[in-house]
Parts: sequence; structure tokens; C-alpha cells
Amino acid sequence: MQYKDYKNVIVMDHPLIKHKISQLRKTSTGTSEFRQLVEEIATLEGYEALRDLPLVEEEIQTPLETAMCPVIDGKKLAIVPILRAGLGMVSGVMALTPLAKVGHIGLYRDPETHEPHEYYCKLPEFIDQRLVLVVDPMLATGGSAVAALDFIKEHGGKNIKFMCIIAAPEGIERLAAAHPDVELYIGNVDRCLNDHAYILPGLGDAGDRIFGTK
Ligand code: PRP
Ligand code: URA
Repeated sequence: MQYKDYKNVIVMDHPLIKHKISQLRKTSTGTSEFRQLVEEIATLEGYEALRDLPLVEEEIQTPLETAMCPVIDGKKLAIVPILRAGLGMVSGVMALTPLAKVGHIGLYRDPETHEPHEYYCKLPEFIDQRLVLVVDPMLATGGSAVAALDFIKEHGGKNIKFMCIIAAPEGIERLAAAHPDVELYIGNVDRCLNDHAYILPGLGDAGDRIFGTK
């Protein structure tokens, strides 16, 4: 099955997101601008990912009268970045949902095998009752995202969405097949992976570009 056949895959088509992703790719984009763009894209994608947040009617006093008006239901939210690069997206989503709790899943890819290795995990309490937004700019082989979602589900997470900025078709297919109940919000689908499992054309190493490391 190709990624386009999965019902849980949502690829962004907004021109603002497309433009910002193109700026992100440029070698000439420095650390500070890169971080800013990641944050802005996360806000725009978050707006789409939170489109189905439930509303309830609340009595509101306007200067003229009282009226029943829709407000976000007191639903619990958690944002869970996959370290390190996912950290760059947290503030962008928090701009929309300032009361969300934040968990962390630390994974790094082995440079030879490309398999993810876990080094730190901490989730907010009542994870089973929360909408969990997992964020990571890059979905390459899909190994890290699958491991992160496995971990959250093992700890009781039931209502999960995944957001990334750039994805390879290989990674989308692996993740969508492993977690068909999780909606995947994707900024852009790139061409393929290279021999080192880097995304082409991609943007290089997202963690290094966000944190100015090599
Ligand atoms: C990057 C990226 C993802 C992962 C994607 O992290 O942020 O977590 O690779 O690759 P995959 O889909 O093949 O698993 P990396 O392991 O480089 O760690 P970093 O964020 O600390 O740089
Ligand atoms: N991780 C990155 O940061 N970039 C890629 O292209 C693949 C994995």
C-alpha cells in the first residue's frame, strides 16, 4: 500500500507552510532563522491538527447581554517532542494551547543501523485521558516515530496525533501501517531516503540545524 492510500495521512497544502519549508531547506538559513521557521510551521500545522477539538457551550456576559458561546472543552492535552529535534516544535504548538502539559521521548538513531535507541522518557500523568500530540520535524525510516508511539501506547495513551514537517514515503508507510489509529499531519512528502537514511531533498540533520551542533 502507498502512503496516499492511508486514510490517517494528512499532507498540508497551505502555501504559507510550503513557503516556510522551502526557506528551511536552504543551506544559507542559519540557526536562529531555522528555529523560528520550525516554530512557525509547527503553529500552522498545529492549527490543522487541532481542528476537531471538541467545543462546549458556555454562558458568557458580553457588554450587551449574556449569550451561550462555544469554548474549547476542558480536554487534557499533552505535547510530546521526540528529542532532540522535536523540541523545536513545542513552543509553536504551545502558542495555540498554552495549558498543554509536555512530555519528552529521547531517541537517537544509530548511524550504522538507523535503528532508534531510547535514552530518556517521561510523560505527563493521566496520559490515557489526554489528546497526545507527538512532534518531530523529520520522519525518515519511521523507526523513531513508531518506537515513540509504541512507548506512549504502552503507558496508556489512546488518543494520539503525530506531526512532522518533512517525511519520506518509506517512513509514512511504516508509521501509518504500524499505528493506523494515529492521524499523521505532514508538512511535505519528499522524494526518498539516501543510503544513510537521510531524506532527499530534505533539509539535512534537523537536530543539528536547530541547536547549531554538528
Ligand atoms: C532525527 C529526527 C527523528 C529521526 C527520524 O533524530 O529528529 O527523530 O531522526 O529518523 P527515522 O524516521 O529514521 O527514525 P536523530 O536521531 O538524528 O536525533 P536528534 O534529533 O537528537 O538529532
Ligand atoms: N533525521 C534528520 O534530521 N534528517 C533526515 O534527513 C533524516 C533523519
